Amino acid sequence: MPSIQTFIESLHQQYRDLDAGQLASYIPELAKVDPHYFAISVVTTDGQVFQVGDVGQPFTIQSISKVFVYGMALEDWGRDRLLEKVGVEPTGDPFNSLIRLDEDSHRPDNPMINAGAIATTGLIKGDNPTERLNRLLAMFRRYVGKEVYVDISTFLSERATGHRNRAMAHLMLNFGMIGDNLEEVLDLYFQQCALFVTCQDLATMAAALANQGRHPLTGEQVVKPEYVRDILSVMYTCGMYNFAGEWAYRVGIPAKSGVSGGILAVVPNQAGIAVFSPPLDQNGNSVRGLKVFEALSQEYGFHLFDLSMGHCRLKDSLSS
Ligand code: DON
Repeated sequence: MPSIQTFIESLHQQYRDLDAGQLASYIPELAKVDPHYFAISVVTTDGQVFQVGDVGQPFTIQSISKVFVYGMALEDWGRDRLLEKVGVEPTGDPFNSLIRLDEDSHRPDNPMINAGAIATTGLIKGDNPTERLNRLLAMFRRYVGKEVYVDISTFLSERATGHRNRAMAHLMLNFGMIGDNLEEVLDLYFQQCALFVTCQDLATMAAALANQGRHPLTGEQVVKPEYVRDILSVMYTCGMYNFAGEWAYRVGIPAKSGVSGGILAVVPNQAGIAVFSPPLDQNGNSVRGLKVFEALSQEYGFHLFDLSMGHCRLKDSLSS
């Protein structure tokens, strides 16, 4: 079995010239990104880092933020009260679909699609918009383990063009799913999506989730351990949008993608893994990212239900 460093270097080499997929363009700032960026990072729960490519290149976190804001809403409200407001049911619809919102519903289906994420952001506690933003930033800072910043250009770009999200928020206001501070909730949602991260940051954040909420490098408990199970469950069933079922079948670990080209995945008790490559397939998932994760899962036996392998072999590979 190759060492993880050797293997990710070979995957980077194998897929770096893969010329498929499109940049997201519905947020104008995202269409300006260099499509050649390609990075793979692995951070183990005991703090070892393996990586290759443009691992320090900042990009906006986009939908991957939904995972962490959901964790914060769980801490703010508790499991049962949050479940009354946001469901945990996969939809099979695109991430920005409005269709099911206009049915006679009282809550969005799950927190990983845009509607559920906007509702979840609207639940973050705080006395005023500044305090809510500061609480979110402090939460992200704990996960990343260093200072974090919002990319103002992308925030403004999405705020000016996010008409579907605005329409969703209005429908949810109509059904009483969110309050009438709608513009402020949308601003906070667009800000969380515009958080700058690197591929290494994402793998570190995922490693904290793999480690029962404890940061692999700072040792800080960044989210209450009892909620890690809930976060990973919705990632597993809903994190890859209308590819979630196929991802669960092929790769078999909890993950979340974003339209800027990041995919973050959690190998429980082993590692956090992230890939950054901006061109997307029709579902909004990074094309190279999907290839890399499929290969990694096969090589090291990540699939949670692949009992024929005996156990996940990632940690074994660190010593070989
Ligand atoms: O709300 C949006 O549409 C974006 N800020 C985030 C969407 C996203 O990343 C979905 N990913 N596949």
